Amino acid sequence: MALLEPVYEIVDPDLYERGGMPHDRFRAMRERAPVYRHHGHPDFWAVTRYEDVVHVSRHPELFSSHERLALFPEVEPEARALQQMMMLNQDPPDHTRKRSIVNRGFTPRAINALTDHIRDICQDLVGEAAGRARAGEEIDFVHEIAAPLPLYVICELLGAPVEDRDKIFDWSNKLIGGDDPELQSDPEVGAQAATELYSYANELAARRREDPRDDIVTRLLRPGPDGSELSGNEFELFILLLSVAGNETTRNAASGGMLALFEHPDQWARLLADPSLLPRAVDEIVRWVTPVNMFRRTAMQDTELGGQEIAAGDKVVVFYGSANRDGEVFTDPDTFDVGRDPNPHIGFGGGGPHFCLGAHLARLELTVLFQTLLDTMSTIKLTGNVRRLRSSFINGIKEMPVRLEPHS
Ligand code: HEM
Repeated sequence: MALLEPVYEIVDPDLYERGGMPHDRFRAMRERAPVYRHHGHPDFWAVTRYEDVVHVSRHPELFSSHERLALFPEVEPEARALQQMMMLNQDPPDHTRKRSIVNRGFTPRAINALTDHIRDICQDLVGEAAGRARAGEEIDFVHEIAAPLPLYVICELLGAPVEDRDKIFDWSNKLIGGDDPELQSDPEVGAQAATELYSYANELAARRREDPRDDIVTRLLRPGPDGSELSGNEFELFILLLSVAGNETTRNAASGGMLALFEHPDQWARLLADPSLLPRAVDEIVRWVTPVNMFRRTAMQDTELGGQEIAAGDKVVVFYGSANRDGEVFTDPDTFDVGRDPNPHIGFGGGGPHFCLGAHLARLELTVLFQTLLDTMSTIKLTGNVRRLRSSFINGIKEMPVRLEPHS
C-alpha cells in the first residue's frame, strides 16, 4: 500500500500572522519534500532548498518572471496588466535593456553620495524618538522610525522636496500591504494613487530635464552611451516600482531586525561593544527576517527540479525565507548571530538577473539606522504586543511599541 504523502500548508496567511515564518514546516519540507506540489488553491510547486531557489533564480529561460506577483488568482486584471509592464515582471531581453538603463542610477557612487542625507534622516527620526522617551513616552517603532526612513530616502533619491514627503508616503501606502485584508485598499484607491504618482513622476522628470543635476533622476533620463533611454511611460513605471519595492521591504527589515535584537539581548550588547560588526549584523538581519518571503516563477518548458518533473506552464514558487535557514549552507541556521561570516543569504534574491537593485541602498539605510540607534540609546525595550502582517508574501510587522532609553 502506498504511503500517503504528507500535506504541507504553506501559504495560509494565518500561519504567518501568528508567529512570523513557519520555520518548522519549512525545515520538514526541505528534508522530506524540497520541491513540493501544493495542490488546491492555489496550485504550485513550493521550492524550499537554497540550492534549488538559486537554480530557479539564475535560469530565467526556464523559469519566467512574467507572472511573478500573481500567485493568488484574486489579483485584479488591471493590477496584473500594470505589474506585467514593470521590469520586475519581465524576462530578457526586455528586462535586460531596462535594467542596464536603471543600473546607471544605482551605482555604488550614486548611492554612497546619499550617505549624509540618510544620516540626517536617521538622526532626525531617532532624535525625535529620544525626545519623547525623555518625556516618559513610548513610541511605535514601525510608524515612527521603520516606515518613514525608506520613504524619506526614496524622496531624497528622487530629489522630491521635503514638503512632498507626506503625499508620496500616502500614495505608496495605498499601493502596498501584501495580502493583509486590514491594509488592503480598494483597487480603485490603489489605481488612483498610481495615477497621482505617475503625474508626480512626470513633474519630477520635467523639472530635471530643465534643471539637470548630479542625481539619480537626471541619470535615468539621460540617454546612455549607446543611445538607450527610458520612455516617459517606462520612467513612470520605474518610479512606481521603486516606491513599492524600496519601501515595505526596508521597513520590515528595520522593524524585524529590531525585534530580533529584543529577542537576543546578548547580540545587542555585542553590537554596543563592537559597532564594527554592524555591516555583518545588517546582512544577518536580512537573512533572519527575509522581508520578501517568496516570489513566483512560471516554467517555460518541461524541466526537472529537485527530482521532480515540472511541466511547461506550472507555477513554481521560491521561498527565500526557507532557503535562508538551509542547514546545508548556513552553520547553526536557527541562531541569530550578528557576526555571521560568511553569510551568503539570498534575502535580496537568488543572484539572477533580477537581483535586488536596491540591495546596496537598503544595506546603507539599515547600517546607518542601527548605528544611530546604538549611538543614541543604551537600551530599547519592547513594551507591548507585536502585531504582525497577515501575509505569506511579505514578512512584516504592523505595530511594535517600544520604550527607548537614551544614553545619559
Ligand atoms: C528586487 C528584496 C530593498 C528595489 C528584489 C527582489 C528581492 C528584493 C527578493 C527580487 C529578486 C529576484 O527576483 O531575484 C529586497 C529586500 C530589501 C529591498 C529584502 C530590503 C531589505 C530595496 C530597495 C529598493 C529596491 C531599497 C530601491 C530603492 C528593487 C527593484 C527590484 C528589486 C527595482 C527589481 C529588480 C529587477 O527586476 O531587475 N528586491 N529589496 N529594493 N528590488 Fe529590492
